[in-house]
Amino acid sequence: MIKSNTILSILFIVVTLFSCSKQTQKVTSEIVELGAMELLLSKMTLEEKIGQMTQYNGFWDATGPVPEEGSSMEKYNDLKNGRVGSLLNVSGVDEVRKLQEIAVNETRLGIPLIFGLDVIHGHKTLAPIPLGEVASWDLEAIEKSARMAAEEASARGINWTFAPMVDITRDARWGRVMEGAGEDPFLGSLVGKARVRGFQGNDLSKNNTLAATAKHFAGYGFAESGRDYNAADVGSVTLFNTILPPFKACIDVDVATVMNSFNTLNGIPATGDTYLQRDILKGEWGFKGFVISDWGSAGEMVAHGFAKDLKDAAIIAANAGSDMDMESYAYIRHLAEAIEEGSVPIKYVDDAVIRILKIKEALGLFEDPFRYCDKERENSLPYHKDHAALVRDIAKKSIVLLKNEDALLPLKKDQKNILVIGDLAQDKNSPLGSWRIGSDDNTAISVNEGLENKSVSFSYEPGPTLISEPATFIKEVVINNEDKSGFDEAVNKAKSADVIIMVLGEHGFQSGEGRSRTELGFPGFQQQLLEAVHAVNQNIVLVVMSGRPLILNWADEHVPAILETWQLGTETGNAIADVLFGDYNPSGKLPMCFPRSVGQLPLYYNKLNTGRPGPSDMVFWSHYGDESNEPLYPFGYGLSYTKYEYSNLSVTKDGTNNILVSIDVKNVGNFEGEEVVQLYIRDVVASVARPIKELKGFEKVSINPGSVQTVKFKVTKNELGFFNTNGKFVFEAGNFEIMVGPNSVELEKKTIEL
Ligand code: NOJ
Repeated sequence: MIKSNTILSILFIVVTLFSCSKQTQKVTSEIVELGAMELLLSKMTLEEKIGQMTQYNGFWDATGPVPEEGSSMEKYNDLKNGRVGSLLNVSGVDEVRKLQEIAVNETRLGIPLIFGLDVIHGHKTLAPIPLGEVASWDLEAIEKSARMAAEEASARGINWTFAPMVDITRDARWGRVMEGAGEDPFLGSLVGKARVRGFQGNDLSKNNTLAATAKHFAGYGFAESGRDYNAADVGSVTLFNTILPPFKACIDVDVATVMNSFNTLNGIPATGDTYLQRDILKGEWGFKGFVISDWGSAGEMVAHGFAKDLKDAAIIAANAGSDMDMESYAYIRHLAEAIEEGSVPIKYVDDAVIRILKIKEALGLFEDPFRYCDKERENSLPYHKDHAALVRDIAKKSIVLLKNEDALLPLKKDQKNILVIGDLAQDKNSPLGSWRIGSDDNTAISVNEGLENKSVSFSYEPGPTLISEPATFIKEVVINNEDKSGFDEAVNKAKSADVIIMVLGEHGFQSGEGRSRTELGFPGFQQQLLEAVHAVNQNIVLVVMSGRPLILNWADEHVPAILETWQLGTETGNAIADVLFGDYNPSGKLPMCFPRSVGQLPLYYNKLNTGRPGPSDMVFWSHYGDESNEPLYPFGYGLSYTKYEYSNLSVTKDGTNNILVSIDVKNVGNFEGEEVVQLYIRDVVASVARPIKELKGFEKVSINPGSVQTVKFKVTKNELGFFNTNGKFVFEAGNFEIMVGPNSVELEKKTIEL
């Protein structure tokens, strides 16, 4: 009875909305929407409200028999009683429909569920891992990739993704660097926006869009020692200038949800951090969506020593502004009692529920709860077929040429006597990375297949296997350090090859969540194999696959050509072959520094100068006695098959203190190419010490051989200002260095006074 009344009221409002004139429609709709959800809220019991704030992991195969006992039975009853607002890790139209039917038809108010999933870099078809994609510095391609992911996942019933991860990170030991945009907040903000736009499109209610999630709020990328889930301890200047900007950028493009994080930030678990969630996110930034906690992060406040028990955790999380509880059972078990005894004001619950309902409404779920359950669309979506070209394009753009002595690359397609070495060259699984919930195992085009597709003739020696047990998402990867079979065969064959393509790196399951490493070299027998092959034949092209920066010192010193290829997803082999054989001229640039040693970490280009930058012939300057301060390959670095010359840097100002910059970039080589022209600034003297360089602009331009492109930038106070220790954005007049070039080191520089 209540259900039909509620729905009638909502229908009445919706009909009124449609009868409005065009001009007033938007404003009216906002008012009406508010009214509709508030009306619904007023009909809800406390239990139902808390239900909306609860998210369960998919607990039973909904297409099979209904559970009869155990915890699945309990969850099933919760679902039927309107005590669940969302499910994660459920996908496929049949499954989603069955569960949605329960929510809509069997609960008292019939409020639809929202279905969340980690759609991180594709769904069935996989694009490169996010860090790899960022190396393309191609925001349009990055947006298209997220769009494709949304198309695929939404066709399978999903309407919410837990992406993009916008955690800035400076430590390659942290396995989750693969999921982010690297070390720079300016680049990370633009990439975050592009991804949100790609997932959400311009109308969330369309059946091919997903609500996006900016995660993990905040500080997760600053896990001490690069160890996942570890504490983060950062000062306010780093928080405001480095960690928060990419989140704010996502809010600016209306990201639907924000996920908080597992870590403590300066001693406070993010899930219980009122300052972050209420004051900054919902207060200062005016975020209108809802906050989802990370998996079990409310409950983990007990382990952090911040909450006495799960009830205390529920109180702290709800008061701090965590709107929906992912898999902690804290709200469903304890929030009602906490509210009744006055530990959590009901207004916080109402606020959380309204936020959640509004996102469901924006997704069109009240209008049609089965909007994302179109079986025909699910079956007819071409997945790999149509999307292969798209992910191949972004994959080849993500490859970074690190070294190319004597122009060994590109190889000729009729090159005789090519030998491919390395277990990863035949691997169809590892290049998919570790975040690939919707895709099938072994669906990547391997490097060997990529070469075959180009009709290149080659022979192959795998060498020792990389892993000794099948790798999975939940277990530690077991590297083969025992069985050397194949080693000698590879070295023997190498003696007579004309060119050797060695494919080495990490396994795809060695990076990602819970996958921190203290050694960043090639695991297993790979380094040994590289050195043994090199001892008999130096004509090596090294293809590196990794989910993070690796330490490539030996290779850099000895191997003539090196490509960083990350984990490139479904079209891996084709994209790598495109670059190896010159069908695509590499244009990728590193989104993170590649260290020389783990001892340098955390390592990042936008560092402070220190009071003793050196160098000096005495020891009293900021340095290591046994290693350079500098990375092996810096942020923004990447070569091409052609050469670019930068000249005529001009730096002037207009009447309103904007800095106008222009530079000529000439292609002086023989290949057409795309160059990422990068602009950095330094605020020379300020009330807070500023980094020696900060990226504040870039443009990817395509230049024909012999041609010149003039690239122009306008640098405004938005780029020249900074957040001070109180989190206030300030612009301070004075001298600014303006630097432009192909990476964060080789820069033309001029100083201007404002
Ligand atoms: C934990 C991860 O930290 C988060 O990023 C992810 O979205 C959730 N698990 C859900 O799978």
